[in-house]
Amino acid sequence: MGTKVVIGAQWGDEGKGKIIDLLAQQAEVVVRSQGGNNAGHTVEAEGQQYKLHLTPSGILNPNTLCIIGNGVVVDPEALIGELDMLEGRGVLTDNLKVDARVHLVFPYHRVLDGLSEKARGEGDIGTTKKGIGPAYMDKAERSGIRMCDLMNEALFIEKVRANGAIKNQWIEKIYGGTPVDAEAIIESYLRYARRLKKHIADTTVLLYNAIKQGKNVLFEGAQGTLLDLDLGTYPYVTSSHPISGGVCIGTGIGPTMIDACIGVVKAYTTRVGKGPFPTELLDEVGQMIRDKGNEYGTTTGRPRRCGWFDAVIAKYAVRTSGLTSLVINKMDTLGDIEKIKVCVAYKKGDEILTEFPASLEELDECEPVYEELEGWEGDIGHIRTYEQLPLTARKYIEKIEKLCDTPVSMVGVGPGREQNINKAESKK
Ligand code: GDP
Ligand code: IMO
Ligand code: MG
Repeated sequence: MGTKVVIGAQWGDEGKGKIIDLLAQQAEVVVRSQGGNNAGHTVEAEGQQYKLHLTPSGILNPNTLCIIGNGVVVDPEALIGELDMLEGRGVLTDNLKVDARVHLVFPYHRVLDGLSEKARGEGDIGTTKKGIGPAYMDKAERSGIRMCDLMNEALFIEKVRANGAIKNQWIEKIYGGTPVDAEAIIESYLRYARRLKKHIADTTVLLYNAIKQGKNVLFEGAQGTLLDLDLGTYPYVTSSHPISGGVCIGTGIGPTMIDACIGVVKAYTTRVGKGPFPTELLDEVGQMIRDKGNEYGTTTGRPRRCGWFDAVIAKYAVRTSGLTSLVINKMDTLGDIEKIKVCVAYKKGDEILTEFPASLEELDECEPVYEELEGWEGDIGHIRTYEQLPLTARKYIEKIEKLCDTPVSMVGVGPGREQNINKAESKK
């Protein structure tokens, strides 16, 4: 298996968690490289459902070393809550290691996330309000507080007092909000430190050694390509790098150490939060997909916006992450729709665009160009081989393969661990 990156090739929630959990059966190490508890990965295994936000989805496999890499921002309260939930359900968590370099999310980050969104008014981004943007702001501004600082009590106290005073000025003087209590933060975070101490490590070394020893390593993406800070629909993006390039920076490995990049897509498109969405369906078909696909956010519970598959963005993901294969999830959700549309290009005035534009104003002027394909009838959730899929479903998959010029390795027909079809192994 070697080293594999799994990323979201749309706007997040493509079912990355399910695929990681599945691939983790063969992986010896699973690594998160960016984002924080804004991510929400649902895994269904042995009839149980787990909602994970910070812990890598490989945690359900006790033999897998799970790493939270240096590029992740960690809210220790959220992490401990997740560890308690897992341990309470009999999942061992000793195999979790957190890099000493991760930046910490503080209550003032969450407060500022909420206040800045409110101040943006109609132009809000629709963030998860988990404090992710403000935590990455501190990191880029070089005033962030890291896990290694939390392990040094005197230094930590000094840093929180200094940062707390500045953040309270922002909160009160710019936004008219209620200040945070730095002393209360110090007290609770030092308690978290005692709990998390055994998990802290230099994971860049653990990872390097694992790769050198030829171990199977999976890099678990969070969010999706169009939410990338550089390449996404800026400013309607998250503050980290969900594309494959983010893995190197966020885990401390070099690009030559990655063997394959898998992009996960849904058979249609969804997005939570604000921002452009060319193929969005604001009609009863969109509502039907939302209901049937249970398209409600794992982290915030917000209804996800739904639309047809957009090959322009999927191709963009293929290009910007160097994807070597695609996984198509949620094929079951599209069952019983007579005609299914796929966006193959955008039309801007008389011009046909086949590449995703940089400017949102230009994107606003674009209309999707659709091709229509025959749908398929009935439930396909029980199907386990590619040949058993209805012919029209196979034609749909092969159309996506052709449009994206990338092979489809796996097809999801339900949320369960066993509801995946290995296309690569099919006789076709
Ligand atoms: P992630 O953020 O990419 O890990 O995706 P989420 O877990 O937020 O959202 C994907 C949702 O779809 C979850 O509720 C999964 O259980 C579910 N899911 C994943 N694959 C499939 C599939 O092939 N069919 C159906 N019906 N549900 C799926
Ligand atoms: P997973 O890993 C879908 C979106 C938010 C918002 C924007 C910025 O489950 O695919 P943030 O809180 O990150 O500052 O919000 O990014 N967003 C996600 N959308 N899936 C996610 O993660 C997301 N993480 C952030 O809705 O539009
Ligand atoms: Mg999700």
